[in-house]
Amino acid sequence: MRRKIFIASAVLLCGILCPKPNFTQEKTGSAEPKMTPEDAAKKNPIQPTAEGLAEARKQFGYDCAMCHGKDGSGKGDLAQDMKLELHDWRDPSTIEKMTDGELFWVISYGRGKMVGGEADRSPEKMRWNLVNLVRSFGKKGAGTAAAGDKPKSENPQP
Ligand code: HEC
Repeated sequence: MRRKIFIASAVLLCGILCPKPNFTQEKTGSAEPKMTPEDAAKKNPIQPTAEGLAEARKQFGYDCAMCHGKDGSGKGDLAQDMKLELHDWRDPSTIEKMTDGELFWVISYGRGKMVGGEADRSPEKMRWNLVNLVRSFGKKGAGTAAAGDKPKSENPQP
């Protein structure tokens, strides 16, 4: 019994820690899709609205801020622990060369150390709203909207 648990945890740990030669992981196929030029060229169909950004900010707080920082600075706790060097989105030039389609794709499927993505967790609309939110961190005028701390007052839906 003990031994089973030991093996199970060794396997689990290895899944996290061991270097990953591609052939041991069945992941290469469907779980790690490749971004195509069409993906990158996709236009964002969702206009940034206060409501959409607020929803995205909530999700961001749960799933993203630990790496990307609440303010998009890239200095979340987990990023620091993992020694990730993330873009500081407060400076829009860090991602201005990336299309919305590319951001959407990375949010959906992850990339490199950003493992997995939101594709099976969040509907497309939410992911586009996340794109809008990511862009909003770098917008000077939207500073208040991106700060995200207090505006508790407007509470559109329960
Ligand atoms: C484990 C830490 C981690 C988490 C959690 C995480 N990311 Fe990332 N993210 C990264 C890393 C690392 C990169 C750079 C990937 C690369 O290009 O190698 C990245 C890249 C991105 C990019 C592409 C732009 C850029 O700066 O390179 C976007 C957009 C993005 N993340 C959004 C999100 C969103 C939205 C969430 C939450 C749904 C999220 N990330 C969660 C680590 C993370």
